[in-house]
Amino acid sequence: MPDKVEVFCPSLAEWPAVHRAIEDGFGSAVTADDIGARDHLRPAERRLAVRDDDGIFGGCFAYEFGLSMPGGARVPVAGLGGVSISPPSQGKGGLRHMMQAHLENSLALGDAASVLMASESGLYQRFGYGMATEMVQWQLPVREFSVPTGLVDEFTIRLIHDRAQAISILLPIHEKAVNTQPGGIDRDDDWWQQILSDDTDSWFGRGPQFVAVAYDANVNACGYALYKMDAKAETATGHGRVHSVCKVSEIVTLEPQAQVALIKYMASIGMARELIWELAPVRPAVRHYMADPRQLWQQARLDMMWLRPLDLPALFCNRSYGVEGQVIIDYCDPIFKHLCKAWRLTVDNGSANMEEVTDVNRSTNAGLLVALDSVALGSLILGGTRAAELATVGAVMGTDESIHLFDRLMLCDVAPFNLTKF
Ligand SMILES: CC(C)(COP(=O)(O)OP(=O)(O)OC[C@H]1O[C@@H](n2cnc3c(N)ncnc32)[C@H](O)[C@@H]1OP(=O)(O)O)[C@@H](O)C(=O)NCCC(=O)NCCS
Repeated sequence: MPDKVEVFCPSLAEWPAVHRAIEDGFGSAVTADDIGARDHLRPAERRLAVRDDDGIFGGCFAYEFGLSMPGGARVPVAGLGGVSISPPSQGKGGLRHMMQAHLENSLALGDAASVLMASESGLYQRFGYGMATEMVQWQLPVREFSVPTGLVDEFTIRLIHDRAQAISILLPIHEKAVNTQPGGIDRDDDWWQQILSDDTDSWFGRGPQFVAVAYDANVNACGYALYKMDAKAETATGHGRVHSVCKVSEIVTLEPQAQVALIKYMASIGMARELIWELAPVRPAVRHYMADPRQLWQQARLDMMWLRPLDLPALFCNRSYGVEGQVIIDYCDPIFKHLCKAWRLTVDNGSANMEEVTDVNRSTNAGLLVALDSVALGSLILGGTRAAELATVGAVMGTDESIHLFDRLMLCDVAPFNLTKF
């Protein structure tokens, strides 16, 4: 007879056992410092655990984020993290139970969506998540990097070593950048402490690293890069040929040429032979300025953030649109039957309205009607995937006319991207 699996919100006294099970699942050792180091960022009512007759064997937690929509408005989302089951107990439904409870919790707390980063991309579609943002890891042999002479001469680069000063400069740059970056997630001071802490060498932060800030001609800070130098001496003595790699975790700028200026600076660091931009957008601006853009070589392209819609009016009414018009969205949720309903989306004069439709006439409304589920909506709500593309694989259904209209409505100027690991 199978063990009875139960999901519950653990008490503070139970949390270390949950944390232990989470780390067991991820295959990493837990130190006393790990437990609790980031707990203040994870509300207690958003932590879950699973247990059976033998005790606690897994858990997860969620952060509370503001997610930037196309146009810059923020919607509240749950950032699900730490989803993990201790290996001896994997395969007995722990994940399924936790996901159900997390999504119910998230609905009850009024989140527009749940977002996550997946360890494996085959895990979360069954729970209604769609791939919302992508990332690329770029490699650049720095001696091949060349942009027009004088292009970025107006910028000055400074290294900031004091953490408090760095946060005071980086936080407003990041916040402004998120205003124009769909998929971006706001970071507060606490979050920055984790990213820049010398003590953190984990998923969140990378321990000691360099903070380079770009200043424009008016000495306004307009971009930053976080990087580390990884020196590889190619002789036994450590002298001789040197091959240092500049590993860049973040480049955030308020104007495209500041991105070029920061890359030019990092490419010029003495001993650097290679630059690896580890977490970057799919179409970085720098390519448009490079004399030989092919030198920016794509090492990997991965799904980054998955989004699971929960509150359709919040998602649709807080984003911008490519054109004006009206469609009827026949929506299907794989888990919550009460969310399966039809909505009339009207975009007029720059604002959107969502109204529930109870009596859809499928023949007279055929030119307006599109049918899709939460996975498809999760992929296209931030603009990462086009409705027309999803229609080719049957994930969005409708007439040619309704799909064309929906596709143009959902168009965004900027591809979604999220830098924040959680
Ligand atoms: C991934 C993990 C959470 C799955 O937990 P689990 O309790 O074994 O999963 P469940 O038994 O509840 O399975 C739920 C469903 O997911 C599927 N599934 C489980 N692991 C999967 C995997 N690695 N890839 C694809 N599907 C998987 C199961 O087949 C099952 O599908 P079904 O309901 O359609 O039959 C667990 O293996 C784990 O902790 N892995 C290490 C940490 C990790 O990667 N966590 C995810 C972080 S995003």
